[in-house]
Amino acid sequence: MTTSTGTDWAAWQESWDRQQEWYMPDREERFRIMVEALVGTAPRVLDLACGTGSITARLLARFPEATSTGVDLDPALLAIARGTFEGDDRVSFVTADLKDPEWRATLPYDSYDAVLTATALHWLHSEPLAALYGQVAELVRDGGVFMNADHMIDESTPRINAAEHARRHARMDQAKRDGALDWAEWWQLAAQDPVLAEPTARRFEIYGEHADGDTPSAAWHARVLKEKGFGEARAVWCSPSDTLLLGLK
Ligand SMILES: C[S@@+](CC[C@H](N)C(=O)[O-])C[C@H]1O[C@@H](n2cnc3c(N)ncnc32)[C@H](O)[C@@H]1O
Repeated sequence: MTTSTGTDWAAWQESWDRQQEWYMPDREERFRIMVEALVGTAPRVLDLACGTGSITARLLARFPEATSTGVDLDPALLAIARGTFEGDDRVSFVTADLKDPEWRATLPYDSYDAVLTATALHWLHSEPLAALYGQVAELVRDGGVFMNADHMIDESTPRINAAEHARRHARMDQAKRDGALDWAEWWQLAAQDPVLAEPTARRFEIYGEHADGDTPSAAWHARVLKEKGFGEARAVWCSPSDTLLLGLK
């Protein structure tokens, strides 16, 4: 939908999805499994490191009675998220740095049925991520869920990892020759947009190109989630490169 700013938010969502799919061809399948694994049809959800609100969009398409809070630090992606969901009372967005110990103070609720996140927590190193898991455990109600879809690397399988990396990059190289946009090229487009140029400049001041982080194994994520207060945790889906980890409170 094009709004009063003249910005076609749906087109930005579309190009964001295509750019992310260049890295993760199974991205939509990950979202589908994540949303289907929810408890109930009207959950209160926290879309953690929401970016443009990709999870929120899939959640509301599947469960129109759900509500969602999106939290992120990137002003440009949040501008796309806010533009997309403008006027939708089910959705709100807040700006916060998940490494700030007080980030939960920005949220409109102190408890959620589900906290969902995708392709984001590898921007954090393991130590701050473990601290974040402790905070997330306090936000999820008993019987509620946390789900993290991300790159989780098992260092005990180096030959499999190398083969997967080579296969994935061969596909990406071909898609690039066919015109796919990568991360840097997508941000160059955002920097040229009259509405997104200013928040894009701010996001580069915050992050640079991309924040550094770690990609610990699914076993690490499951262990730390249990240490931090989840009753059970394990992978519920995986592809050769990615895992969807579910923690049940
Ligand atoms: C690759 S995007 C994924 C966004 C969305 N979940 C999706 O799948 O399309 C990663 C997101 O994590 C956010 N992020 C990374 N570190 C963060 C932090 N410390 N605090 C808040 N958000 C963070 C980034 O701003 C970015 O929006």
